[in-house]
Amino acid sequence: MERGSAMAQARIGVTGLAVMGRNLARNLARHGHPVAVHNRTTSRTKSLVEEFGHEGTFVPAETPEDFVAALERPRRLVVMVKAGAPTDAVIDEFAPLLEPGDMIVDGGNAHFLDTRRREQALRERGIHFVGTGISGGEEGALHGPSIMPGGSAESYAALGPLLEDIAAKVDGTPCCTHVGPDGAGHFVKMVHNGIEYADMQLIGEAYDLLRHACGLPAAEIAEVFRTWNDGRLESYLIEITAEVLAHTDAATGRPFVDVVLDQAEQKGTGRWTVQTALDLGVPVSGIAEAVFARSASGHAQVRAAARGLPGPAPSRLEEAAAFADDVEKALYASKIVAYAQGFHQIQAGSAEYGWDVDPGAMATIWRGGCIIRARFLDRIRAAYDADPALTTLLTDDHFAEALGDAQDAWRKVVATAARLGIPAPGFSTALAYYDSLRAERLPAALTQAQRDFFGAHTYRRVDRDGSFHTLWGGDRTEIPG
Ligand SMILES: NC(=O)c1ccc[n+]([C@@H]2O[C@H](COP(=O)([O-])OP(=O)(O)OC[C@H]3O[C@@H](n4cnc5c(N)ncnc54)[C@H](OP(=O)(O)O)[C@@H]3O)[C@@H](O)[C@H]2O)c1
Repeated sequence: MERGSAMAQARIGVTGLAVMGRNLARNLARHGHPVAVHNRTTSRTKSLVEEFGHEGTFVPAETPEDFVAALERPRRLVVMVKAGAPTDAVIDEFAPLLEPGDMIVDGGNAHFLDTRRREQALRERGIHFVGTGISGGEEGALHGPSIMPGGSAESYAALGPLLEDIAAKVDGTPCCTHVGPDGAGHFVKMVHNGIEYADMQLIGEAYDLLRHACGLPAAEIAEVFRTWNDGRLESYLIEITAEVLAHTDAATGRPFVDVVLDQAEQKGTGRWTVQTALDLGVPVSGIAEAVFARSASGHAQVRAAARGLPGPAPSRLEEAAAFADDVEKALYASKIVAYAQGFHQIQAGSAEYGWDVDPGAMATIWRGGCIIRARFLDRIRAAYDADPALTTLLTDDHFAEALGDAQDAWRKVVATAARLGIPAPGFSTALAYYDSLRAERLPAALTQAQRDFFGAHTYRRVDRDGSFHTLWGGDRTEIPG
């Protein structure tokens, strides 16, 4: 272990040494990159070096001045502090110590609009601000996360090789690429988290249906999930679902899933995804239902008040194995929809902010390191390889075929859920979205007519250009709008 000095001896520095920062610093050191380490409370810096100093070259710094002095130029300074005001506080502390060409990498879960604001302010001072999405939690940070850096191409040229070095690798390809300018990295990370919400909700519904429509015990459902994990649904989330469902609570001997309070929490990136989608006008109904499902689960009082409301008489399906096959198809189809919606949002954000994000590259860097890592992402990448201008993933040959094959099963599952009174908002909204896009005509025509009736908002016609208004309160003649 080398001790700190005023000499520039570290290739990169990490400030903020809680679980994420500490593991990221260790990952860098383990890959042979001398890393300066700093934390507001110095005891964290000391304990990192004491416990893990043998893993590589750490340069501990007690003050921001020492930390900056330890970095070779242009300086690469990674900030891994609590998102929000602490990030601004740390930037304000370090920016005056930096020089033009230096880089501040924010690896926290920042809102992309904050990242845009920070990037612009620092750009005016000649400093590169690299808002970087990092997925995979503390394990990922240590063993290889999925990394989504935004910021300038110039900063990526200096940072990319280090980040690609410590990122997860799939088939030798690093799960890290330059996403696009300013807030692009944090935007894509946000949508990634939104997709994660949708994925988890759909898995939850699949479990719930097998449990309550078929009466399968948790341990048997674990087996079903294990089988699914050998097929096209193979993914980290399916794999851990099987693990969780097979787990027995030591204290009670009951299935572990039955002793966990059924009120889901959230940290906020799912909510950001939906709020941003509303602003962009992109229908991410699968992600929205997942966020709302978590909220609904948490409203214990409302749930208690509603518990006695009438529903269908309890009944069970006889053909559990056949129904499980149907649920697998419904799950795959609904998952395709959730990803199609998420990628639509990425493309809309990219167009709105001029980021030129390559959607196939996003699928590529999500294949490892992150929570939604899955075989499925190879399919998405292949879809964009085949047609980089693909309007929606739903029409890619592979996905269109899978959606076609799922038709009967998907509808049967949604109908069964409704008939038995089992909530399946994720499956239902995915199917409704699919049918909405397929429809030759939508009742949006009636909506437009109503809006014209009560608010003279005008409408367009199918047979002529222009906008029109009908004199609803008068003789109902049509006039140009
Ligand atoms: N945990 C995860 O799985 C995960 C996954 C992906 C991304 N992230 C993001 O990564 C970042 C770090 O996460 P974390 O869980 O390791 O840590 P955290 O609990 O979010 O934050 C704790 C760190 O922030 C520092 N800090 C807080 N306020 C500060 C201030 N005003 N000035 C300077 N430093 C300040 C703390 O320093 P002190 O020790 O002095 O208090 C400590 O190092 C967060 O933005 C988080 O959202 C986390």
